[in-house]
Amino acid sequence: MDIRYDPNVMVGLGVPDDAGVYQLSEELALVQTVDFFSPNVDDPHSFGAIAAANALSDIYAMGARPIAALNVICFPEKKLPLDIMEEILRGGAEKAAEAGISIIGGHSLKDDEPKYGLCVTGLVHPQKIITNAKAADGDVLILTKPIGLGIINAAIKAGIASDETTQQAIEVMSQLNRGASEAMIEIGVNACTDITGFGLLGHLHEMTSASGVGAHISLSKVPIIPQAWQLLKEVNISSGTRANLAFLEGEIDWGLNISSGEQAVLCDAQTSGGLLIAVTRDRSDQLLEALHSAGILVATEIGEIISDENRRIRVRKK
Ligand code: CO
Ligand code: CO
Ligand code: CO
Repeated sequence: MDIRYDPNVMVGLGVPDDAGVYQLSEELALVQTVDFFSPNVDDPHSFGAIAAANALSDIYAMGARPIAALNVICFPEKKLPLDIMEEILRGGAEKAAEAGISIIGGHSLKDDEPKYGLCVTGLVHPQKIITNAKAADGDVLILTKPIGLGIINAAIKAGIASDETTQQAIEVMSQLNRGASEAMIEIGVNACTDITGFGLLGHLHEMTSASGVGAHISLSKVPIIPQAWQLLKEVNISSGTRANLAFLEGEIDWGLNISSGEQAVLCDAQTSGGLLIAVTRDRSDQLLEALHSAGILVATEIGEIISDENRRIRVRKK
């Protein structure tokens, strides 16, 4: 068989989507993703939970249901006590349990710096996959978690984030996108992706490019963790966020009154961010209601999809 062409590959490496999708039968497709990274917070248990929530998120973004996961862990066993590794794994296992799945295996190796994440398997009906390629003119854009996590992570690393801010960021990052995903599956939406390393506008750009549309974003409507504005003045912008700003240069029409700090926040590289959902206008209120009753109170409309053959993103203040 020519491995470049397997007709059962529904979503593969050729497109920038959240997870791979492989059709097993008329009614069933397998969804697979792997994600792992170095600690972004000091507490090993919280790090495990964040890394697991982040890995699961790509399954949720596809409108799929996770069924099982594998651990991927790197650990400097000569440099750090093994309890730390156990705490990381415990944080991950508890988060997997919250997602209703078991961790059924994994792989560990020695490395200078700890790294942890999951390889997650999910299932979806082949006709119900939610990619980022079907956003349509007039769709409302809804975001389900606040942004600014990259700035706060940098502040945590620099030792200047307050305990309260650190705790708030941990809560946001370790929150599963399960409820948000279930709400969007129930209501029916056109496109979805989760917000991670490419930042809000980087992931929106993937959606608009894949869908062949443009978008408007209203900065004043975007939920942003308030402390991020102050910390932005005290930390260096991360290399990930700088890369996002450089990559998106020329793709975005920044409103005249959008400052460089505001641009950095909108492109801020997130860890385990929320879902960005494109839903038709007539279903958007229902979706917001479903999200709010699932306890996702921050979920809000941040802009809309517009028809634009140049696929540009316009950012305005209001
Ligand atoms: Co993703
Ligand atoms: Co990912
Ligand atoms: Co192995």
